[in-house]
Amino acid sequence: MTRSDPERIVCDKEDSFGQTALRIFFDLYRQALSRKEFFTLLLSGGRTPEAIYSDLANPAIQSKIDWSRIHLFWGDERFVPSNHPESNYGTVKNLLISKIKIPPSNVHPIQTEGLTPREALEKYQEDLRVFFKIGEDAFPRFDLIFLGVGEDGHTASLFPEIPELSEKRRWVVSTYVEKLKSQRITLTLPVLNQGENILVLAAGKKKAEVLKKVFKPEGPPFLPIQQIHPVSGKLTFLLDQAAASLG
Ligand code: 6PG
Repeated sequence: MTRSDPERIVCDKEDSFGQTALRIFFDLYRQALSRKEFFTLLLSGGRTPEAIYSDLANPAIQSKIDWSRIHLFWGDERFVPSNHPESNYGTVKNLLISKIKIPPSNVHPIQTEGLTPREALEKYQEDLRVFFKIGEDAFPRFDLIFLGVGEDGHTASLFPEIPELSEKRRWVVSTYVEKLKSQRITLTLPVLNQGENILVLAAGKKKAEVLKKVFKPEGPPFLPIQQIHPVSGKLTFLLDQAAASLG
């Protein structure tokens, strides 16, 4: 089965980046809820999606969203307390969760406090298994996955050349990022590639070089972001002009 090429959406000015992301969110949210009970949204860390999280909390659009039918998950987490400035959950809590009416049981953070990294990944995997009501021989399938991309080609907390990139069975792994001195918990490629819709968000000229490797590869796809290929879902890159400037 040939994999369809990713869709590439280039926004022409900063605010259309957020507007376009919201349009995609609403399209997929409505499609999902027309055929099932819940919409599952996997959130990314990093700075790029922060504006989108704030936009989703905008009081002007709350009448259009039934948060009781949306479940929030995280694609990765830094192994820090939830009130730490580096916490991906903490960021979303501050920008979005604290401003909307979403049932606490619809929010599924990667718990880090009071656990070892091993215990944290096992707990998250169990949380996913219980929510998706599947065995460990299957993979959770999220309706919409937000991903970012680092200049080095990492996505979620899957960094270049780490052994966890070759994980084929486990849904969640823990990895230590030496250059960032950061312990991470992250979903694996098999789970990310199971996504119904994957939206990679990238803005700024610092991302242009790595995106050129995605769209004009000159060698084997070594980078983690180059290994994001949905098994049967749709992959879209949402870029601003600076990030898209090298092709
Ligand atoms: C994280 C993210 C990571 C992020 C990229 C891009 O926890 O840091 O999951 O993969 O998306 O590093 O980050 P920016 O959006 O800040 O450039």
